Amino acid sequence: MPSLHELMKTHEQEINSFQPAGAADLENYRIRFLGTKGIVKLLSAEMKNVAPDQRKEAGQMLNAFKTLAEEKYNAFADMKQSSGGNAPAVDITLPGTPIAAGTRHPLRMVENEIVSIFEKIGFSVATGPEIEDDWHNFTSLNMPADHPARDMQDTFYVAQNPDWVLRTHTSSVQARILETQSLPVRVICPGRVYRNETISARAHCFFHQCEGLYVDKNVSFADLKQTLYYFVTEMFGENTKVRFRPSYFPFTEPSAEMDISCTVCGGTGCNLCKHSGWVEILGCGMVHPDMLRNFNIDPEVYTGFAFGMGVERITQIKYQVNDLRLYSQNDVRFLRQFRPA
Ligand code: PHE
Repeated sequence: MPSLHELMKTHEQEINSFQPAGAADLENYRIRFLGTKGIVKLLSAEMKNVAPDQRKEAGQMLNAFKTLAEEKYNAFADMKQSSGGNAPAVDITLPGTPIAAGTRHPLRMVENEIVSIFEKIGFSVATGPEIEDDWHNFTSLNMPADHPARDMQDTFYVAQNPDWVLRTHTSSVQARILETQSLPVRVICPGRVYRNETISARAHCFFHQCEGLYVDKNVSFADLKQTLYYFVTEMFGENTKVRFRPSYFPFTEPSAEMDISCTVCGGTGCNLCKHSGWVEILGCGMVHPDMLRNFNIDPEVYTGFAFGMGVERITQIKYQVNDLRLYSQNDVRFLRQFRPA
């Protein structure tokens, strides 16, 4: 029978060359060497057969053997909990790998802000189709086929149907609302619009507008002014000043353009306001009586105001973005700058 010493030598070789293929292999090793009926236990039991004068030395060897067997096992400890294979165990106490979250597009953020400002004073959201017919985009808005105002908006026509256009403004939603809803109406209409413009820093073939419409009895220009003044102070801060300049839109009379005091220089003059102290932000006016008549609304009984603003313009003023193309290039370096804090 081999001596305890010889047995240990043989097993030492086995331990040294052991290389687990996976968790199951490692577990077999543990049972074979370190288990309750394992080799370490069996060899310990052999101690009683060792001559008393050799026990001390044999005991030391056995301890060294046990340490060797345990160290080998511990060296592969990271395999222990895994369900198999060589994959390292997952430490579920570590913080997770962060997942890069997307952000809202700056135009959508500003659009949401515009909409919620108007929602606070009783406007509800209305939307309409981007492919629009001539009636809703032009004719019902007081722009018959030969009306020169059509030139203000270079239009994309849809090849399949000469009556269809890509809507040139969200005023088409005004028309649809007056056609379908009973009065009074108070709506805000955000949406994408299209114009046949050469793409540059200042013009694009599509952009976004937010239209507002309020029709009721006794709606006056004073209501329009107060509503827009409220909007501006909510959007740009209490100290913002407004001014109205007479303008022309076929579907409003009187019509105006509204400027706000420059948010960058406060009115002293800078690049944004082209050194005038004012920046234009929207067009507005009292709904034209003829337009009301187009929808069988009696202009002697009902009056209304409408306004339309470019979301890109508001965003440009708010964030000083000076190239329109940035909005649609989807460069994450641009988009990431609008991540909420
Ligand atoms: N639809 C006009 C435009 O696109 C803006 C506008 C809307 C003006 C409503 C007056 C009233 O330029």
